[in-house]
Amino acid sequence: MPPTAPHPQPTHSLHDIPVVDISDTGPGRTPLQQVMELMRAHGPALVRRLHGRDTLFVGDLDLVTDLADETRFAKAVGPALENVRAFAADGLFTAYNDEPNWAKAHDILMPAFALGSMRTYHPVMLRVARRLIDSWDRGARTGQPVNVPDDMTRMTLDTIGLAGFGYDFGSFERDEPHPFVESMVRCLEWSMTRLSRTPGSDHSAADAAFRADADHLAQVVDEVIAARVDCGPNAADAGDLLGLMLTAEHPADGTTLDTANIRNQVITFLIAGHETTSGAMSFALYYLAKHPAVLQLVQREADALWGDATDPEPTFEEIGRLTYTRQVLNEALRLWPTAAAFSRYAREDTLLGGRIPLRAGQAVTVLGPMLHRQSVWGDNPELFDPSRFTAEAEAARSPHAFKPFGTGERACIGRQFALHEATMLLAMLVHRYRPHDHADYALTVKETLTLKPEGFTLTLTPRTAAD
Ligand code: HEM
Repeated sequence: MPPTAPHPQPTHSLHDIPVVDISDTGPGRTPLQQVMELMRAHGPALVRRLHGRDTLFVGDLDLVTDLADETRFAKAVGPALENVRAFAADGLFTAYNDEPNWAKAHDILMPAFALGSMRTYHPVMLRVARRLIDSWDRGARTGQPVNVPDDMTRMTLDTIGLAGFGYDFGSFERDEPHPFVESMVRCLEWSMTRLSRTPGSDHSAADAAFRADADHLAQVVDEVIAARVDCGPNAADAGDLLGLMLTAEHPADGTTLDTANIRNQVITFLIAGHETTSGAMSFALYYLAKHPAVLQLVQREADALWGDATDPEPTFEEIGRLTYTRQVLNEALRLWPTAAAFSRYAREDTLLGGRIPLRAGQAVTVLGPMLHRQSVWGDNPELFDPSRFTAEAEAARSPHAFKPFGTGERACIGRQFALHEATMLLAMLVHRYRPHDHADYALTVKETLTLKPEGFTLTLTPRTAAD
């Protein structure tokens, strides 16, 4: 946790909601963690005021339950996503609800994300998992630490590139992150830091640098598309996302996605399809490194499937049986949901939770990490404990207590994709290596709209039969 200055105090309250003006300090480089600290001090619903702009943040379970009511609320493209629209426009993530391209792309692409479709992606996910393992084997041989978030990002980018678009980023052949990733991270950072600008100050240099990065993203995406279009009329044969985008007709009116929208979708999927999953894997490995008893249970589960095999060949069905590994991922996503905030707006004037008046169109931002630390999670919500996600525990809890993938019809389309990819890799890694927290790593969560454990490294030793 970054050191924080004394917390700003509420200046007053509106309908019993404290209003905290942070204009003096600004939100800094970890704006979401700042709101977490404010909520710890002042409660799970507050207005953050910045240079006269108010944002209502909530983490309270009753309020989030109310916000999930699709008849009264809908996804808001809040100020952060408005900034992302500067490079992803009407892609699925950043489209307005009433933009026709949202429903069109949603209907066309949904079948590609049904649970059964993961069977199609499984071989590619496995192939890329092996790239990571080759790279980590080198680390294990030399004793060199591996950089966990960097390598997870290599793995998830290559996976979405190949599984979605038949495009190989070849990230493990590079010492540095792929330039697409560097441009993407800077674009996301620009989207975040632009929110805290002091009115009247000059940001032309930052904006020009952003434009160059956004152009680079578009150029890479054009290459990805061109590589496929070169395949001629068989563009759809690959049966992947890009094939669908280029050729699938909407069931209702027979139209296809237009060229500009395809570019926006490819940028969207390349970003949404890897950045959050990579963070989730990194946090899961962080918690495993810190909790040897949990690590042992995950290892036992993988060992039960693959025994002493040095190079197991996980099948699609086996991944569904890794229930404890999945619990570990869920618990990591509870403490650090890597897309940590999402916004909803009121369709009509209404009372949120029966007590907070909202005007039609007014937005509210849900802060996942605080929702995931409410009393419904027991007395010690900071404790990493995967047993919170047994089937019985889940059935006994409100479905609105855990929202790492958002809510309603605009919830994450790639959830099954992320969970299949991450569950398989996590199990393969713990089956093969004993991770060592060689640097006694102290968690620092980096924010670039998404969350990652910054500078987290591990050393690895191959497991032996005795481990
Ligand atoms: C939407 C989280 C992985 C593609 C969302 C939303 C969240 C989220 C919270 C809703 C945002 C909002 O309401 O404004 C995550 C997390 C992931 C993950 C935590 C990994 C652990 C993926 C993957 C893909 C993907 C792997 C693609 C392969 C999308 C898309 C949307 C979305 C396209 C927009 C859906 C729509 O509005 O129709 N995700 N996501 N995500 N996600 Fe994910």
